[in-house]
Amino acid sequence: MSTYHVDEAAGSDTTGTGTSDAPYQTIAFAFFTHGQDVKVLVRKDATSPYDEPTQSSVKKAKKNADGLEKKAKKAKELAERDAQAKGEERERKEKLLEESKKIQLVEDPSLPAAVKAKIGNLAPLRTQRIRVFGWVHRLRSQKDIIFVVLRDGTGYLQAVLSGLPAQTYDALTLTLESTVELVGTLQATPEGKTAPGGHELSVDYWRVVGPAPGGDDAFTNRLNEKSDPSILADLRHLVLRGEHASSVLRLRSLMLSSFRESYAAHHLLEVTPPCLVQTQVEGGATLFKLDYYGQPAFLTQSSQLYLETCLPSLGDVFCVQESFRAENSHTRRHLSEYTHLEAELAFIDFDGLMNHIETIICETVDRLLQNETAAALIKQLNPAFKAPARPFMRLSYVDAIKWLNDHGIQHEEEDTEGNPIKDEAGNVKMVDHAVGDDIAEAAERQMTDIIGTPIFLHGFPAELKAFYMKKVPGSADAKHVFTESCDLLMPNVGEIVGGSMRIADMEELLAGYKREGIDPAPYYWFTDQRKYGTCEHGGYGLGVERFLAWLANRYTVRECSLYPRWPGRATP
Ligand code: 4AD
Repeated sequence: MSTYHVDEAAGSDTTGTGTSDAPYQTIAFAFFTHGQDVKVLVRKDATSPYDEPTQSSVKKAKKNADGLEKKAKKAKELAERDAQAKGEERERKEKLLEESKKIQLVEDPSLPAAVKAKIGNLAPLRTQRIRVFGWVHRLRSQKDIIFVVLRDGTGYLQAVLSGLPAQTYDALTLTLESTVELVGTLQATPEGKTAPGGHELSVDYWRVVGPAPGGDDAFTNRLNEKSDPSILADLRHLVLRGEHASSVLRLRSLMLSSFRESYAAHHLLEVTPPCLVQTQVEGGATLFKLDYYGQPAFLTQSSQLYLETCLPSLGDVFCVQESFRAENSHTRRHLSEYTHLEAELAFIDFDGLMNHIETIICETVDRLLQNETAAALIKQLNPAFKAPARPFMRLSYVDAIKWLNDHGIQHEEEDTEGNPIKDEAGNVKMVDHAVGDDIAEAAERQMTDIIGTPIFLHGFPAELKAFYMKKVPGSADAKHVFTESCDLLMPNVGEIVGGSMRIADMEELLAGYKREGIDPAPYYWFTDQRKYGTCEHGGYGLGVERFLAWLANRYTVRECSLYPRWPGRATP
């Protein structure tokens, strides 16, 4: 007779084999596994020897072994029943699928002609027969009914397929993101139920236009909410099909239209300056250089200089143009290519310029909030959004430096090359701000978030700003010359607008080129503006993605661009 070993302390009923080296933990399990007639030796723990079990413990173990057997039998029965049911279900489905191939759906010519329409324009067509085309956005089957949410870019439509339309081979194998044509009667959703647009399509005829794959290559296997950011970036073209991404872009479009309306209301004319340029605007360090028929050229950093040349012929102007910055900044608010909304105004002063920026922004926001679609998108993306109160706070650069120091907001101490200085323990040294310091992104963000309202930060030192900026008359103190420049800072984002009055005087402009080490020759056309009837003028640039990040409460400007570019990323 075989003998099995049990160690009540260290044995195991899952990994043990019943040998003295790999004992079981219970006698019951030994009986259950090998039958109740086998010989069993037991020990309390590894310090005592294996011994015969007492009669009472054998009795108890036999009872428990019976229990274990019953349990195992039941589990086996259940598993068999389950497998059979699954097999039957599979068989049933296969049969259904086979039969479905015989079903041919044809459009019934006796029904009223269907009106082809876009989903966004369906409300007036309720009770009528309509024809829509789009992508399967959501899909759910319930018994013999298939629920589809169709997307065509203008909205979402709930459609119900039942009866024959739900029994075809295409219906049983339909996948998300396939394109389909749906025809049926549009009905208001019954009371107590909700559907996008307040109506539902009862489908009487439909067909697949372009199927999307299922299985491993199915849309939801390629990306989902938990996908890695680099995969989401590679699959931006598919991400855009999502509700959030498309809502941001939809709002972006309405926002640009609203800006255009605001500019029209203030008599600014839209122009379209070139992207290929041979002059810099915002410093050589961030220029993308390229070979232009054997000559050096750049991608534009700002259309400002061209807008300035439009003033004498077209009056006040604006443009919506891509700007490019070769900045190695991997921040929430930097792109290598961004959409730049820029405006330039003649015969204006600095105060008037800031008033104008505030007016355009507030009127644009008001327009958006008055537009039903835009207001709904803002509510969806940024439920807490409120139009900013006017007038915007105005804070001079010098007062901002004081404010930062009063609030203990310091910056990294840097060496002459701009590298942070570290102490012996390797910690970056933090120091108070001083007049002349650039207010870095982190400090600016802290200040904006604490103050919590839009802030016009104005009067930056000339050495921090570009060559073209007008100096504050009589501002020169012993160490610093300040400029009529302003940045508009918004909570959560920071700087969204940079603007200034421009140097109107030719000699002063020539001195500006010199200070920045710029060869004036390629700027002859810009200098000419001061030669042929100069005027006091100013303008600004607004980062469209930053403005949208503020409006739609997006974490990063990358979500606010169609196909964002940042260092190392220029695909898709
Ligand atoms: O402050 P910036 O550099 O100003 C100019 O380019 C002026 N020439 C504009 C003008 O006066 N016509 O840029 C203006 C705005 C910034 O406030 C910011 O919103 C945006 O452009 N911006 C960027 N947005 C995304 N990524 C970047 N790398 C950006 N750089 C500037």
